[in-house]
Amino acid sequence: MSQVKMTVNGKEMSGEAEGRTLLSQFLRETLGLTGTHVGCDTSQCGACVVHVDGVAVKSCTMLAMEADGADVATIEGQAAADGTLNALQQAFQDHHGLQCGFCTPGMIMSAADLLKTNPQPTEAEVRHHLEGNICRCTGYHNIVKAIMAASGQDVSSIAAE
Ligand code: FES
Ligand code: FES
Repeated sequence: MSQVKMTVNGKEMSGEAEGRTLLSQFLRETLGLTGTHVGCDTSQCGACVVHVDGVAVKSCTMLAMEADGADVATIEGQAAADGTLNALQQAFQDHHGLQCGFCTPGMIMSAADLLKTNPQPTEAEVRHHLEGNICRCTGYHNIVKAIMAASGQDVSSIAAE
């Protein structure tokens, strides 16, 4: 076991990790940040997406030790300290972008990554960006709509599902 330290949502955090400990496991089981979900064991579902040094990564594909010293952002750090949802979270709520919510942390973190580099994505660009995120409930339609609404675009012509 080795000591791994990282900044998570602006706070210094540390814990013991084995060489094989995945970042997703470390966040959930060692740091207690269970907002990052694990929905598969094949690196396909995207429920585990976090940002490492500003880049969206599937945290089940990275070792905790590889993130030693990194700046990590998870879903827990997205809302304001008083619990006020950020624009993406609020748009998911407003446009019914979730049902069971299992995929939602990964969807939000992936969408935030898209909006950083493409602040007004088209519907096709949103769908393309979400290729690595699986939702088993919503049919994606309202997720796409929520992301476009969060980017300030008029989504009134996009039908609700
Ligand atoms: S848990 Fe990481 S991709 Fe599914
Ligand atoms: S809301 Fe249930 S998996 Fe996406």
